[in-house]
Amino acid sequence: MKFAVFASGNGSNFQAIDAAVKNGQIKAELALLFSNNRKAYALQRAQDAGVPTLELVPKEYANPQSFERDLVIYLKEHAIDFIVLAGYMRILTPYFVREFPGKILNIHPSLLPSFKGMNGIKDAFTYGVKTTGVTIHFVDEKMDHGPIILQESLAIREEDTLETLEVRVHELEHQLYPQAIALFSEGKLKIKGRKVHIISL
Ligand code: GRF
Repeated sequence: MKFAVFASGNGSNFQAIDAAVKNGQIKAELALLFSNNRKAYALQRAQDAGVPTLELVPKEYANPQSFERDLVIYLKEHAIDFIVLAGYMRILTPYFVREFPGKILNIHPSLLPSFKGMNGIKDAFTYGVKTTGVTIHFVDEKMDHGPIILQESLAIREEDTLETLEVRVHELEHQLYPQAIALFSEGKLKIKGRKVHIISL
């Protein structure tokens, strides 16, 4: 199995996933880091890790469809089996999602369905919830919505600031995402409606 990570920014999840491939936790080939942002630090991390990169910038295309069409062509030509969104700050169109049905994973830094959107950690913190967490889910045509693969909670402490909470959420992300990718690439996830069953082979 070959997979691509999509990232638009820092790429700390990419780094954790690459480490998990290299240490054998994920038994699939990390064949591509794709970014829609030429300045993404994730690109630098991929180059340092020896992972091939692709940059395509949407605003250099006439419309979102032609941008995604080029991307799909590239992914199919390179025989990419599945896609891992890791801080990819762009909503995929239904066209793209249908090209990879049940084969796109996303991570979100809150306990979905709470605190969807760009600022999951901050929104949970300012709302004052006592528990937040991390969700890994399949991508469907709605934002932060598809069937949930893994979810883990994290207590917000009295002394937490937004910054300390961010650090702990990211640490949890870096543990949980490789676990979900390993399960998926080993064929251990079965989607039934909104439920994802983890099967032991
Ligand atoms: C993560 O918090 C992820 O949950 C969210 O975007 C952030 C990306 O961080 N979707 P990084 O680029 O992997 O460091």
